[in-house]
Amino acid sequence: MTAASANVKPATGGDGSASPRHVAIIMDGNGRWAQRRHLPRVAGHRKGIEAVRTVTRAARAQGIEVLTLYAFSSENWRRPADEVGDLMGLMRRFIQSDLDDLASENVRLRIIGDLSAFAPDLRALIEGAVARTAGNDGQTLVVGLNYGSQDEIVRAARALAGRDPATIDADAVDAVLDTAGLPPVDLLIRTSGERRLSNFLLWQAAYAEILFVDALWPDFDGAALKAALDDFATRERRFGGR
Ligand code: FPP
Repeated sequence: MTAASANVKPATGGDGSASPRHVAIIMDGNGRWAQRRHLPRVAGHRKGIEAVRTVTRAARAQGIEVLTLYAFSSENWRRPADEVGDLMGLMRRFIQSDLDDLASENVRLRIIGDLSAFAPDLRALIEGAVARTAGNDGQTLVVGLNYGSQDEIVRAARALAGRDPATIDADAVDAVLDTAGLPPVDLLIRTSGERRLSNFLLWQAAYAEILFVDALWPDFDGAALKAALDDFATRERRFGGR
């Protein structure tokens, strides 16, 4: 069985009728949004959180089952300490202010990435939020925190080491990734005009349609998401066939 067929069927696209089941977004451009306004970078991240709220709601309205957002990469620790501190503070406040709404809207929160690097109290807050929403069966909101695809694959390889090699196939790898049980990524969007994957969901996006948009993340809204979905609907997906 191939990775694309592992677990669950990906959306087909191509005929204008299918919408993606799983949309993943690299939220880029907060810093430039702030810089253009002569504001501190944290103002861009704050506005970025508003975009997270808007786009999460819009994705729900569009019937997207899984929305994955890249909030903090395993490389983001290299940013200046005050910016890392600002991002941690914003995440803490986001959970405190938005968890009730997410829970009441039947959203299931999941985290991908290695939480062991976070401050114990923030980690407990995040894990508490995941546990509180674990029984929800509406939209799944997946947040990448201290996430890097190569790190995830290394952790998966460690989890499989020692197993009979003959039993290791794509499904077995899938089952030990942070995204276990989620459908593969159908549509991967990166904002801000950068054209890189930056170590995001390299395994899970094997057959994803990729869309690079010029909008900076704080300016990305429901209409921009709708435009991305319309673009997806025009793509013909072959999954390696013809
Ligand atoms: C990229 O912009 C954005 C980030 C590194 C952080 C993204 C985080 C958020 C939107 C807030 C946290 C999210 C949640 C779900 C609570 P950049 O700073 O790299 O921008 P630049 O490339 O213009 O400098």
